[in-house]
Order: sequence, then C-alpha cells, then structure tokens
Amino acid sequence: MAAEDLLRAVRLRPKAELHLHLEGAVRPATLVRLARRAGSPLFPDVASVRARRRFEGLAGFLSLYRDVCRLLREPADFGLLARDLTARLRSERIVYAEVYVSPAIVERLGLEWGAVRDAVESAFAAHERGGAGRIRVLLDAVRHFGPDAAHRVLDLHARHPWPRAVGFGLGGDELSLPARDFASVYRRLAQLGLAPVVHAGEAGGPGSVAEALRWLKPRRIAHGVAAAADRGLVRTLARAGVALDVCLTSNEATGTWPLATHPVLDLLRSGVTVTLATDDPGLFGTTLSGEYRKLSRLGATRGELAAVLRAGFRAGFAPSRHHPPATSASAAARTRS
Ligand code: HPA
Ligand code: ZN
Repeated sequence: MAAEDLLRAVRLRPKAELHLHLEGAVRPATLVRLARRAGSPLFPDVASVRARRRFEGLAGFLSLYRDVCRLLREPADFGLLARDLTARLRSERIVYAEVYVSPAIVERLGLEWGAVRDAVESAFAAHERGGAGRIRVLLDAVRHFGPDAAHRVLDLHARHPWPRAVGFGLGGDELSLPARDFASVYRRLAQLGLAPVVHAGEAGGPGSVAEALRWLKPRRIAHGVAAAADRGLVRTLARAGVALDVCLTSNEATGTWPLATHPVLDLLRSGVTVTLATDDPGLFGTTLSGEYRKLSRLGATRGELAAVLRAGFRAGFAPSRHHPPATSASAAARTRS
C-alpha cells in the first residue's frame, strides 16, 4: 500500500490516544471566547492563538498553559473544554482515550473540584452514550506545585472517588523537582486503584527518566524520549514493558526534540513500546493522524505504524472491549471498505 493510502487508513481506523491534557485540547475559537469574556487582550482572534505555537522550551509552553488556565473562571468552563475534546475524539475516530484532568490546576484557580469534575464527567458521559468511544481519566498533579499539592489531589479522590479515573500522573516543569520528592505520593496509588504515569524525559535528560522509574515505578511515561541516550535505560524500558506516550509535534513546538533528530524510531527498533499522542492538540494545532504522518515521514515502516496503533490500545489501562485492536496495517486498510 502506498504511504498516502496507509495514512488514509490510519485516519479512518479506530484509534486510541493515551496522552492529552484537558486544558490543552481547547479549540482556538473557544480560547478567543474565554479571553473576550475575561476582558483579556491575550487571544483577540484565532490567528493570535495560532501565532503562539512555537515556544522557548518547555518553560515557554508552560507559560502559555498558565495564560490559558487563567481564563477558566467557573466549573462550566471545564465542561466547554471537555466538549471541545470529545468533538475532537469523534472527528478523529479516537475510540479510546486517556485524558489528563488536573485537580491541582482547579485548586490553583480557586474553583471547587466537585463541580469541575461533574461538568467534565457530564461531557464525557454524553460522549460515551453517543457510542463514539470510551474515555478514562488520568488525575494529574503539577510537578512544580510540589508534593503537598500532589497529595491533595489524591486526598480529593480518596474522599470522593471518580470512577472514570484509572491513573495518576505528574505534568508541569520536569526540571523543577526530582521524581524522588513524589515517592510518597506514588506509594498511595495502588490502594486507590490508580495506575502510575509520569511526565519525564521531555525537557530532562535520561537521568530524569531513570529517576522516575526508580522512585515512581510508572507503567507508562509521558514523552520519555530522552531515555534514548542511555542504552541500558532503553533496555530496561523494553524489558519492563514501560510504554512511552510520544508526542512529536509537541516536542517540535517546545524545541525539546526537533523532528529531524527525534529518537522515536530508535526507541521503537530497540523494542520499547511506543504510543503516539497529541499532548495538547488545541495549542499545538495537531491531530493524532498528523502525528502518524510525521512518524511515517521519519521512515517508520507499515509494520511499525501498525505496532504503534496497536500499542495505543494495549498500553491503555482500560482498553475497549468493543474496539479490539486490529492485528496489522492490512486490517487498518480493511476498515476503509
Ligand atoms: N509537559 C508537561 N506539562 C504539561 C504538558 C507537557 O507536555 N502538557 C500539558 N502540561
Ligand atoms: Zn503532556
């Protein structure tokens, strides 16, 4: 099959996505509306959102993220974000998604978590009732907010468990605090029925990935690509089956991993489980199929693209029974007919 046919098949095929953030899924038009309502000059029109898609490192991106979050003034705003996100899942035929939702950000904004959770839950439940696919939540803490704030995320969940939450992660500034500072947080996860994930190896080096593995014992790592510089670490990831949820456009936009020198193929060929994701599709202006296109341009074979598609389902914490992973790219092609 020609590359274009294969990519068309990817677009039409049921897919899974395991690394995208609720706030980062905001549509540019929604962002403009939120800014107008807040009387903020930040995003006067859609073009101004699109103009801010290149960043000075992860810190530059996190500064935009903060600007976006400051426009969220009431629980219903999170419902808007959730509906932007589910519309995106439907239009991209993503039938299983794990979405980072951050009670730590909600706390910073001074909003009530229960009301925000209800607004998000209502949008996600409506999406599922429509039959377009399933969504699970990864409760997210923010690394630079520190371990006490991360503990409070778990306290909220312990007091009033959200059945949709299947995991717990740590985003934010990877360079701010070492993973070991969060070891006591991650030790609570098993009892709460939450699978451990963590952002590492994005702005940090292989040492940051090794540190996260040692202290937090994640089942998947968001990004994790810096591990490629350490062959022993790569072997450990492959052997332990710790998947990396890789986001090519995000890495390009933050300047952490330019596409031309991106190690994703090296990781795949070394036996590491890799999934592809958009991270913050509304802010980076990308789609999941666009991520597959980039992987193909880097030289991924048909078999490698199929393996990544399959990994999206297999590495999920609650994969769909209704959309079992196809076994090969030819199955992807069959979905067209
Ligand atoms: N890294 C860290 N924090 C984040 C990201 C990311 O890629 N996206 C949203 N918050
Ligand atoms: Zn992320």
